[in-house]
Amino acid sequence: MIRPEFSNCLSRVIENPKATETDLIFLLDTINQKEQDLLFTEAARIRNQYCGARMILRGLVEFSSYCGNSCFYCGLNRTNSRAERYRLSPDQIVESARLVWNAGIKTIVLQSGEDGMEAQVIADVVYRIKAEHDMAITLSVGERPRKDYALWKDAGADRYLLRFESTNPELYASLHNGRTLETRLQCLDTLQELGYQTGSGFMVGTPGQTLEIIAQDIRFLAQKNYDMIGIGPFIPHPDTPLRNAPAGDIHLTLRAVALIRLTSRNAWLPATTAVGSLDRDYRVDALQAGANVLMPNFSPLDVKRKYGIYPGKRCVTETTADTDSMEDLARAAGLTLDYSRADTLK
Ligand code: 5AD
Repeated sequence: MIRPEFSNCLSRVIENPKATETDLIFLLDTINQKEQDLLFTEAARIRNQYCGARMILRGLVEFSSYCGNSCFYCGLNRTNSRAERYRLSPDQIVESARLVWNAGIKTIVLQSGEDGMEAQVIADVVYRIKAEHDMAITLSVGERPRKDYALWKDAGADRYLLRFESTNPELYASLHNGRTLETRLQCLDTLQELGYQTGSGFMVGTPGQTLEIIAQDIRFLAQKNYDMIGIGPFIPHPDTPLRNAPAGDIHLTLRAVALIRLTSRNAWLPATTAVGSLDRDYRVDALQAGANVLMPNFSPLDVKRKYGIYPGKRCVTETTADTDSMEDLARAAGLTLDYSRADTLK
């Protein structure tokens, strides 16, 4: 049964994407199956209307697991002595980009821990990849000074991913060690000012997070007009301080995906690896709830396991960029597979 107050609330959010916090909380809190299905169907409809009924592919290369940070949720945090550290050479990164290009994919994400790598080294890699392929490059290497972001932009980087993790300053502080929300948001503003297509997002289910905070995060994403938005459930890592915390609820995560679609409309929204790494693979469910990006992992096989942000990462067992299986995922969600650069739709 679909309650009239649910339909009314959903209609209000669809009509006016500047949704109220109260409406978002109400929809986030809905566990009735029929109502959830309606939310997902409407989110998929809005996605198709604003972005087309397609799923785009972004090749992911995780090029270093070194990290100078100690975020309490992340397996790469510097105090985790059990983490195996690796760093790909510039040649290896450029080679990985060739693999992505040869798979027909025209956009690549280069991600690492906060490795502290010299900015010029990254700039050179970006420059070399751009010289070889007409490919959109997304960097995701954390907080850096403005001059580094500017250098990389000049070298040809197109996009940057930096999740804010939470817009609530207290929650942010409780998840991070010696870092503030203010500097994180400053970095995001700098990236947008420099002309990067910018992506952000957060984890669902971090300890202390409330529906109210999630609703605020969703409104913040819409207000900042990000080009890309990534969210996924928190998954406790056994070698971190949050080892005993429960994992984020996948259904709440899917409702958050749908609400982000309804409020941020034409953003690129991945069915993230974390969504695929729970008791089963929920990436099709995320696509059915409004997501439209898949990020096949092109890191060399021997390092995939070592990029241990959280345990049970789907890509460790999955063959790299198996085109048939990606086609299957898209088809299962009623989408066509799209190999374009997926530049911003904003
Ligand atoms: N569970 C789920 N997601 C995590 N991330 C980091 N650690 C975890 C975890 N334990 C996410 C963060 C980060 C992104 C690269 O991975 O949101 O921004």
